[in-house]
Amino acid sequence: MRKGIILAGGDGSRLFPLTFSVTKQLLPIHDKPMIYYPLSTLLELEIKNILIICKEKDKLQLNNLLGDGSNFGITLSYLTQNKPNGIAEGLVIAEDFLSGDDCVFILGDNLFIGQFESKVIKNELYKKNGATIFSYKVNDPERYGVVILDKNDEPKEIFEKPKKFISEYAITGIYFYDQEAVNIAKTLKPSKRKELEITDVNKHYLSKKLLRVVNLDKNITWLDAGTISSFYDASHLVSTIEIRTGRKIACLEEISFSKKFISLDLLKKNRERYGPSNYGKYLEKIINKNF
Ligand code: DAU
Repeated sequence: MRKGIILAGGDGSRLFPLTFSVTKQLLPIHDKPMIYYPLSTLLELEIKNILIICKEKDKLQLNNLLGDGSNFGITLSYLTQNKPNGIAEGLVIAEDFLSGDDCVFILGDNLFIGQFESKVIKNELYKKNGATIFSYKVNDPERYGVVILDKNDEPKEIFEKPKKFISEYAITGIYFYDQEAVNIAKTLKPSKRKELEITDVNKHYLSKKLLRVVNLDKNITWLDAGTISSFYDASHLVSTIEIRTGRKIACLEEISFSKKFISLDLLKKNRERYGPSNYGKYLEKIINKNF
C-alpha cells in the first residue's frame, strides 16, 4: 500500500505577518486548521501510514493537534525540514520512511473539495510504474506549475510558473509517485529561486514517458491557499458549502469512521475533545445516527 507524505514546512512568506509565528498549515480555513484538508484527502484515498514534514518549531503544535494518528485509526509520524529548500526535498527527507514504497505526496496548503474517491483517481493508486499528476484548469496559470498536453491528451511539456501564457492547466499539489521519486529528487540541482523543484521531478518522469496526467475539473474544486486572497477564498468556499449542504468538508473523524478505520466508541471519545464547537456538534449527529 502506498504511504502518504504531507509537506507542511515552508516560510509561508506570501502570508506574512500571519505566518511570522504560526505555520501556514495551522491557520484556519473556515472552522478547522488548514492541514485537516490535505490529511482528509489522504484518508479518502485510504492511505493509512502518513509522514508530516514540517519545521522543527512546528512539530510540537502539529503533534498536539493530530498526535500519532490513532484517533483516526492511522499512523502519523513527523520529520523536520528546517529550511525551505524546495518541495522536492521532502522526498529526500522521506527516504527512510518510504523505504522503497510508492507514495502519495501532497502539499500542506492544497485543498481538494469533492470526489477524490472517483474510480479514475483510485485506479492511478494501483499503477506500479511512474508518476501521476493532476491538472486543473485555472485563470491564473502563472502562479503554478503547468502542463501542455498533445492532441491525445498526453503530457508534452511542463513548466514551473511560466511568465507568458502557455497552458491553462495548472498542476495541482498532489502527486502519486513510484519508488524512483526519491532517487530522482536526490539528483536535482536547486533552481534559480534556490529550491529543489517538484516540477523537475515531474519533468524527469516525463522524459522517460512515465508521467500520466489526470484532469480533476469534473470531480473536484481545487484551491491552493498560499496567498491572502486564495486563503480567504478557500475559507469562504468551505463555509458556503458547509452551510448550504449541512455537510462538513475535511471532517477527519467522519471519514475515518466511514472507512471503518475507527469504531463508534473511539468516535464518541474523539467527539469529547471538540467540546461545544460546531465541529463537535457535527460529530454528535453522526454518532446519534449510528446508535
Ligand atoms: O499548489 C500547487 C503548486 O505548488 C504547483 O503548481 C507548483 O508546481 C509547485 O511548485 C507549488 O508551487 P508554490 O509556489 O505554490 O509552492 P509553495 O512554495 O507555496 O509551497 C507549497 C507547500 O509546500 C506549502 O504548504 C509549504 C510547503 N513547502 C514549500 C517549500 C518550498 C515546504 O514544506 N518546504 C519547502 O521547501
